[in-house]
Amino acid sequence: MRTQVVIIGGGPAGLLLSQLLHRDGIETIVLERRSRDHVLSRIRAGVLEWGTVEMLRAAGVGARMDREGFVHDGTYLAAQNRGFRVDFKAATGKPVMVYGQTEVTHDLYAARDAAGGTIIDEAEGVMPHGLDGDAPHVTYVKDGTEHRIDCDFVAGCDGYHGVSRGCIPAGVLRAFERVYPFGWLGVLSETPPVSDELIYANHERGFALCSMRNARLSRYYVQVPLEDRVEAWSDDAFWDELRRRIPGDAADRLVTGPAVEKSIAPLRSFVAEPMRWGRLFLAGDAAHIVPPTGAKGLNLAVGDVHYLHTALAAHYRDGEDAGIETYSERALSRVWKCERFSWWMTTMLHRFPEQSTFDQRMQEAEIAYLETSVAAQTAMAENYVGLPY
Ligand code: APR
Ligand code: PHB
Repeated sequence: MRTQVVIIGGGPAGLLLSQLLHRDGIETIVLERRSRDHVLSRIRAGVLEWGTVEMLRAAGVGARMDREGFVHDGTYLAAQNRGFRVDFKAATGKPVMVYGQTEVTHDLYAARDAAGGTIIDEAEGVMPHGLDGDAPHVTYVKDGTEHRIDCDFVAGCDGYHGVSRGCIPAGVLRAFERVYPFGWLGVLSETPPVSDELIYANHERGFALCSMRNARLSRYYVQVPLEDRVEAWSDDAFWDELRRRIPGDAADRLVTGPAVEKSIAPLRSFVAEPMRWGRLFLAGDAAHIVPPTGAKGLNLAVGDVHYLHTALAAHYRDGEDAGIETYSERALSRVWKCERFSWWMTTMLHRFPEQSTFDQRMQEAEIAYLETSVAAQTAMAENYVGLPY
């Protein structure tokens, strides 16, 4: 087989890149390790930057998002049982879209299937070869048979645990990481959201977040110690803890119900440099991870895909390779700013085990400054709605 770009990974990054390249007449083959059902079963965050909204519309996959998504002009922050609102729209002229990222993946798969895109599910042993030359190829095994795809470029969109990042030589690859000393216990419930916009709460017992998927499906999180096991948390224990950490008026309104999904996720900040090695380009979680506090995971992947799509399109359309040559530098510039924002939101809102009373006062002062400063709220808003590409 031969194609122009082999994309390893059928998550949001890989599928969006495939869809955008297709619309520019560039052939791709997506190799996905897991089954379609598994990929579509992953519970993912729900906040889309406005740049992501515009990219999905440009890719021709924004119709259901526009029908079913919720445009949010702001969010609530709370500390010491008191909440205030940060108005993104007033500060930046932009809102965000609340629309499950699992739905984005659904919509991307539907678009690729409708366009006759080639997505090979349950592709095992995917391995790129010849990345430092001008004729790379990728091998994989499907139903026990080994296959080879010759190509021009390989996009590593295979997430944090993928194979692509490891193809960059150890002497070239540099990794930067911070692992946070806590996790997020998340619950999905078929209940009406407690608030019309998200609530991010700092509390002495730990962080809490009230989010949603639609008017009948709510998503809540509480910070828990890393050693906690989800089995140890009953639904009632979760609801009681959430009530303790959010402002009293929200706690009084909270509608509880059985958890239809309950899980604990660790938090880390991670960046791999460079994001390109010869004919290999990393995009999305393959290159970076952010703590979910700033809702940047998918949105960062979309930013990478924007740079990579425009670079590859210029190569094939105009024979122009400046985009390819500067891909890693341009993508990393935005990645690091989003890493900083996600680290800042996480540091401001969570209880750290070794935290001193002085540290707690610093968090409270940071939040109090946000509450009273237009400049501080504008800085938060422009990062939350999405920095320019
Ligand atoms: N071969 C083929 N596919 C692989 C391999 C491999 N060796 N390793 C991983 N994959 C697949 C995974 O099964 C997964 O479907 O690559 C895909 C990677 O998808 P994600 O992990 O979702 O990463 P990405 O597409 O970069 O999405 C980034 O989306 O929803 C958000 O928070 C989420 O931060 C994440 C973001
Ligand atoms: C979610 O809805 O799952 C969500 C929203 C905002 C975040 C993280 C997760 O910052």
